[in-house]
Amino acid sequence: MLSCYRCHCALLLVLLTVTTGSFPSVKVNLHDAATLTCSQYSGLVTWTVIHKPRDILAQCDQISCQSQEGFNMSHDEYLKGDLSLNITDVDYTKRGWYTCTCNNKDICDVSLQIEALNSSVKTKPGDSLVLDLPISEPVEVIYNSTDAAAPSSEQICTVHERSLQCKDEYSRRASLISVVELRGTAPSDSGVYTIQDIKNEEVIHTYTVIVEEDQLHPDRGQGVPVPVWVWTLMGVLVLLLMGSMVMNVWQWRTNQLQKRVDRIKIKTNNLPNL
Ligand SMILES: *[C@@H]1O[C@H](CO)[C@@H](O)[C@H](O)[C@H]1NC(C)=O
Ligand SMILES: *[C@@H]1O[C@H](CO)[C@@H](O)[C@H](O)[C@H]1NC(C)=O
Ligand SMILES: *[C@@H]1O[C@H](CO)[C@@H](O)[C@H](O)[C@H]1NC(C)=O
Ligand SMILES: *[C@@H]1O[C@H](CO)[C@@H](O)[C@H](O)[C@H]1NC(C)=O
Repeated sequence: MLSCYRCHCALLLVLLTVTTGSFPSVKVNLHDAATLTCSQYSGLVTWTVIHKPRDILAQCDQISCQSQEGFNMSHDEYLKGDLSLNITDVDYTKRGWYTCTCNNKDICDVSLQIEALNSSVKTKPGDSLVLDLPISEPVEVIYNSTDAAAPSSEQICTVHERSLQCKDEYSRRASLISVVELRGTAPSDSGVYTIQDIKNEEVIHTYTVIVEEDQLHPDRGQGVPVPVWVWTLMGVLVLLLMGSMVMNVWQWRTNQLQKRVDRIKIKTNNLPNL
């Protein structure tokens, strides 16, 4: 059992530095909560991200725990030796290495990662393919062709400091807004596009893209939606038409009835007086 009572710290920390060696990582879905685990008894415990050691995310001592918004440590758990840090909503800014220190000595290093997003995209020839860039760190766009005859995997673009660099055959079609847009797709562009964080080699998003052959409707101008006012006008016309039909039928029936009544009147008039 490891322990870190203030008085014995020096000796124990030497031991700890030797025994720590494997770096665990935690991977969660975007916007899920994450728990970075660490256990140890007593001492002043702090959690920080490795590159910002002065920015304390959460801290516990014998009396209480404090934490920044979005981070949480339980004092009850701390007293039991569980120094886990809870992160309530994991987004891309929270990725990276976290360190837990006990009395200013590293005891746990944990890497927080986010599961790759996966999207399926179906487009028509000529449409643009739009790839999101949710992080500001350098990324690469990797294209795996799904063409069975010529499977391939290559880096087609990179984004550094909001500047886009692409292979020659893509540079005229691709542009960077806050997304990467690839114009004029053709069936031969079908495949898997991967947005990958270059430094951390972490897959951010994969797009499985199918550009459909458009043989049935080669004219892409088809299917223009009918504006609402056209529908309204047609509705009004139909109502008017139905109204006038009902009126006509009603009038015709009244005429018929009148005729019948007249005929009966004539008949009764013609009856011989008894
Ligand atoms: C942090 O944890 C404590 C104890 O479990 C709880 O009372 C508190 O609501 C939590 N805060 C957040 C922001 O999750
Ligand atoms: C941290 O998260 C775990 C798992 O979701 C939960 O069991 C625990 O109570 C949470 N602790 C705090 C301090 O919120
Ligand atoms: C996306 O696909 C990868 C590889 O198949 C998988 O590891 C990952 O968990 C998937 N992400 C989600 C959010 O399902
Ligand atoms: C793309 O192809 C490479 C090499 O075959 C492979 O290592 C990688 O996993 C593929 N990526 C996807 C997203 O299918």
